[in-house]
Amino acid sequence: MEQNEDINQFDIPLAKRTYLSKSNSLLLKKLLIFSPFLFLIFSIASLRLIRNIELEPLSYLNFQVEKNHDHRILGHLPYDEIHKDKLVLIEPNIAVHIDMRDSLLKMREEARKDGIYLVFLSGYRSINLQNDIFYSLKSIRKQEAAERARVSAPPGYSEHSTGFAIDIGDAAQRETDFETEFENTEAFIWLKKNAAKFHFKLSFNKNNKYIDYEPWHWRYEGSIEALKVFETANRHL
Ligand code: DAL
Ligand code: ZN
Repeated sequence: MEQNEDINQFDIPLAKRTYLSKSNSLLLKKLLIFSPFLFLIFSIASLRLIRNIELEPLSYLNFQVEKNHDHRILGHLPYDEIHKDKLVLIEPNIAVHIDMRDSLLKMREEARKDGIYLVFLSGYRSINLQNDIFYSLKSIRKQEAAERARVSAPPGYSEHSTGFAIDIGDAAQRETDFETEFENTEAFIWLKKNAAKFHFKLSFNKNNKYIDYEPWHWRYEGSIEALKVFETANRHL
């Protein structure tokens, strides 16, 4: 008896075996079955995350490019040439978009009633004609493209090719045709006050960084087609 008590005092290490409970082993089995799917889901999620991290800065850059350039060349936006079917002559050598004809003639008529005689100087110009103007010997002499673009749009970039632009002078002061001094004429003062009523808007004001102020150059925005054409120009004022 005494001997037995002595034996019990020794701590004999025994191999300890634990058994998983029934519910735990079922969970493990399920995990094993679904592990390929879980692995697949995890891989797809990781790939998407990596792609987003890589693409986000790129899309941000693209947005910046859009914002900064919006496809302008030397400050001018690109414009398609009007389809010939939509062109109408309002004077022997002046054609305009059919959408703006009535409004333009009405504006001249209303001005006349106020004793102001508007002269139409230039309407539709084909891209070919704009090419000749931009690259004419007179234009390129001593001037870099950026300097020429201050007064004349590169071909494919002129509002005149859309048929929605019109250059206007004052019949009483022809010496101011295409000159900044046109802004001091009665015609310009009248236009500033009344042109919006006929859906005309000055295209190149004094705030334009790249293009010189053109008080004679007006564009028509009185139809959905015209508004679409000038949407970008109006968005980036
Ligand atoms: N003079 C304007 C900018 C044009 O050529 O369209
Ligand atoms: Zn013009």
